Amino acid sequence: MLLTALLERQVVFFGGKGGVGKTTCSAAFALAASRKGRRVLLVSTDPAHSTSDIFERHIGPSERQLFSNLSALEIDSEAEAARYIADVKVDIRRMFSPNVLKQANRQIDMAAASPGLLEVALLDRIIDLIVDRERDFDLIVFDTAPTGHTLQLLRMPDAMNAWIQALVKHRRAVVEIDRGSDQTPEAAAAADPVLGALERRRARIGRLRSTIMDRSMTSFVFVTIPERLAIEETARAAELLSDTGVDVGGLVVNRVLPDDLQGDFYHSRKAQEQTYLAEIDRRFKRLSRVRVRQLPRDVYGIAPLEQISAQLL
Ligand SMILES: Nc1ncnc2c1ncn2[C@@H]1O[C@H](COP(=O)(O)OP(=O)(O)OP(=O)(O)O)[C@@H](O)[C@H]1O
Ligand SMILES: [Mg+2]
Repeated sequence: MLLTALLERQVVFFGGKGGVGKTTCSAAFALAASRKGRRVLLVSTDPAHSTSDIFERHIGPSERQLFSNLSALEIDSEAEAARYIADVKVDIRRMFSPNVLKQANRQIDMAAASPGLLEVALLDRIIDLIVDRERDFDLIVFDTAPTGHTLQLLRMPDAMNAWIQALVKHRRAVVEIDRGSDQTPEAAAAADPVLGALERRRARIGRLRSTIMDRSMTSFVFVTIPERLAIEETARAAELLSDTGVDVGGLVVNRVLPDDLQGDFYHSRKAQEQTYLAEIDRRFKRLSRVRVRQLPRDVYGIAPLEQISAQLL
């Protein structure tokens, strides 16, 4: 099976263990899709940002056109987090009186130092891209950081929704709009700027959810290699994703050795690989799988990327 069917999606995530070829495969897929005439945005959420290296061009945090139909950007999580905190402080300033505000800001600064913040800020940026940019691009391809974080990210909209729900409730109480009021949520939101901002945020997360959960719009592609640790990590990640409802559109088995080499070392590697390839076929039989051969060199520049594309599609 090939990834050709995924060319028609609007959002495709590439995820997997560190170093298996996520950046390579997402870049090759994005390049191929752009050549089929789709307007593609390739987004790196990985702080290492090897997308620039692959295309041998500096990309950076704002959209940069690489070829006709192909643009790319590399999200800077640290900068997004700082901006996110600043935004939240502005929201909060409108909600509380000055003496409560001091305490609230302290709480926010504490939250800013907590480990989840980078992910929340990253999710906020991803929401922006998916919700706002869908008019400019037919397809957004995400090259994600190693497994754990990405999956947390896809599970996070529900948590964010609950949090916003609680803020909305609090704010409604403050402005004395209770359930007995005959004001609709829209009218209440229009009357109060803070409620308005919260409702807008909630609506955006709702749109993100409906895009991500729609199997005809969004797919997740796992990349793995025929080795023990990668197989186990892929199995765990696939399990984690299965209860979110997100479609797993394929499994790329990357770095498969060529068939025509000689020597004891090679035969030993090849024999081990055969065992793992068979195991992958057995354990992931419900996923459509595509094998990508190991090239003689690292994948930098357009010509080797095209070779990877040809195998993916
Ligand atoms: N099929 C292949 N043949 C040869 N080299 C490959 C192949 N796939 C990936 N590589 C090389 O392996 C290295 C790791 O690939 P890549 O950067 O795409 O992995 P990654 O999963 O994005 O890594 P990270 O988790 O660090 O982001 C790179 O040097 C890349 O050029
Ligand atoms: Mg990478």
